[in-house]
Amino acid sequence: MALVSMGPMLRRARADGFGIAAYNMIDFNSARSIISGASDLAAPVIVQVSVKTVKHWGYAHVATWVRMLAEDAPVPVALHLDHCTDIDVLKRCIDAGWTSVMFDGSALPFAENLEKSSLVYALTESAGVGLEAEIGAIGGVEDDKVVNDDQSRLADYDECLRFVAAMPNLAVFAPAIGTAHGFYKGEAKIAYDLLERITKAIPTPIALHGGTGLTDDQFRRCIALGCGKVNISTMHKRLFIDGFVGLKAEKPKLEEPLPFIAAQHDAMKADVMACIRTFGSAGRAAEASDAA
Ligand code: 13P
Repeated sequence: MALVSMGPMLRRARADGFGIAAYNMIDFNSARSIISGASDLAAPVIVQVSVKTVKHWGYAHVATWVRMLAEDAPVPVALHLDHCTDIDVLKRCIDAGWTSVMFDGSALPFAENLEKSSLVYALTESAGVGLEAEIGAIGGVEDDKVVNDDQSRLADYDECLRFVAAMPNLAVFAPAIGTAHGFYKGEAKIAYDLLERITKAIPTPIALHGGTGLTDDQFRRCIALGCGKVNISTMHKRLFIDGFVGLKAEKPKLEEPLPFIAAQHDAMKADVMACIRTFGSAGRAAEASDAA
């Protein structure tokens, strides 16, 4: 299928109570594992890319890989830019064929974040692509963004209402609710009460950041409360490396590269499939395509 925009399928996911996996791709093999895992389970999926990864490979290459893979897949695939603070990068992605982008103004004071996000919203609305925007401060490390424990901050409820009211067609809203990027030191402390208050007042699908290390119960509870988009990056990176070097440890004499690429692909794909099952999006491709 042609690449789709994530907004309509996320609205369907929220309405029907399932979560769509949003994996941060690393290279072609990684994108292939994400789309192949979703295809085998007839699930909609979001391939998202961090700014560093886009700059490493180049805008046109990343867009071409994902578009080609999506065209061969029987499921809806969206191409999304993760946590971007630079409007020029965001514009280049839109020009290269991304179907949605995230503007991350969460490090700015609320009024400035609202002002900049609204500006980007006008831009994405006129370009016909989806927008994700964040408030509060999600802890941990994502790309070049480091938010220490003492800097992480839950989203303020009243600010959430004002923020989304200014952007009624936001594809997905990312309020900080206690999850963090990277591996958790203990169990994540999710502010379910805040999430519930937000989703009772706001119909926009919510993005659950910091998916690596959450328990199945935590995923299910957040999805039931309105998290339509579930982000996974750190575990995917771990399997990208372990899948490759694990085979070398097992077969030190092996010099042929393709079995390594296959082992890496299969390790990443198995995790994608496990998450899709947990998020309840297996078998939802047709439903999500109708919405898209
Ligand atoms: P993890 O790296 O914790 O899986 O979080 C991913 C994420 O939220 C990307 O924005």
